Amino acid sequence: MVTERAASRTAVIVCQGRAAAHGRLAPDRFADPTAMPLLRAEEQAQVHLVRRGQPPAGTKPRLGYEMIRASAEIMVPRTVAIDDAVRAAPTEQVVILGAGLDGRAWRLPLSGATFFEVDHPASQQDKRDRAESLDGAPPVFVPVDFARDVLTDALESAGHRADAPTVWVWEGVVPYLTRPEVTATVAAVAARSAAGSRLIVNYQSPSLVSDLIRKTMSAVFRTTGPWAGEPWRSAWSPAAMSRLLALHGFAVRADNDLLTVATGLGVRLSQRSTLKNSRVAVAER
Ligand SMILES: C[S@@+](CC[C@H](N)C(=O)[O-])C[C@H]1O[C@@H](n2cnc3c(N)ncnc32)[C@H](O)[C@@H]1O
Repeated sequence: MVTERAASRTAVIVCQGRAAAHGRLAPDRFADPTAMPLLRAEEQAQVHLVRRGQPPAGTKPRLGYEMIRASAEIMVPRTVAIDDAVRAAPTEQVVILGAGLDGRAWRLPLSGATFFEVDHPASQQDKRDRAESLDGAPPVFVPVDFARDVLTDALESAGHRADAPTVWVWEGVVPYLTRPEVTATVAAVAARSAAGSRLIVNYQSPSLVSDLIRKTMSAVFRTTGPWAGEPWRSAWSPAAMSRLLALHGFAVRADNDLLTVATGLGVRLSQRSTLKNSRVAVAER
C-alpha cells in the first residue's frame, strides 16, 4: 500500500461545491448538511463568499471562487442522480469507491446498511480527521490505491460480504484512473457482486471543450491548483462504458448526462458543456 501522495484536493473542491449548493440550489431535491462540517475553516470561508455572491478581488482568489461556484452546479445533479439510484435499491451494504469527502455514510438514512468507504490512503486519513465532528456512526474505512492494491482482498479483510448484494457508488473517480485501472476496478467490483448488486458509476465522456477548459485551468493554477497532482486520465463513451460493464456481467439500466438531470431539477446553468459530458450510469448484475 502506498501513501506518499497527498490527500486529494479535487475531493475538497467537490465538497465545497456541495456546501455552496446546500439550501440554495434545487433545495427541494438536493441537501448535503455534512459538506460544510467536513471542510476546514479557510475552505469554509471560500464557500461563504460563494453563498453570499461576493467574488473576492484578485485573479487567483476570483478563479478559486468561480471553481467552487461551478462545482456547486455540477454537484447538485450528480448527487441527486446518485442518491436516487442508491435509494431505489434497498441493500445491506453500500461501498463508496474513491469516497473523498462524500458524506453519504452519515446523511443517507438507509436503515441497517453497512457503509464501506474505499479511498487512497492519504485521502482517507484526511477524511477521518475531518469527519470527527460529524454525528452518527462512521463507515468502515478501507484504504486502497486503485493503481496498486488488490481491492477484492481489501474488501474481504474489511468484512464486506461477496455473497450478499452490494450497492456500489463510484463518483468523480473514473477520470483520474487510466483505462487499465478502470477495467481492473470493474473486474474487482464484479468479483464481489452477488446477484442483485447495483453499480452506480459517474464518468466523463470524451469532449474537446472539457479538455480545453481543464487544460486552461491547470495552466492558470500550475503547481498550486487542485488538478496539479490529479490529472484526468480516461474518458469513456457511453457505448464503451456499457461494453466494459457488460463484459463483467453488469447490464446498464440507465445512463444520463448531468445536463439533462440539471435541467429537470430547474438548476440555472452556466457550464452546459461540462455537464453534458459528465454522466451517471446505473448497472445491475
Ligand atoms: C474528485 S474526488 C471525488 C470524491 C468523491 N467521490 C466525491 O464525489 O465527492 C476523487 C477521489 O478519487 C480518489 N482517487 C483518485 N485516484 C485514486 C486511486 N488511484 N486510488 C484510490 N483513490 C483514488 C481520490 O483520493 C479522491 O477521493
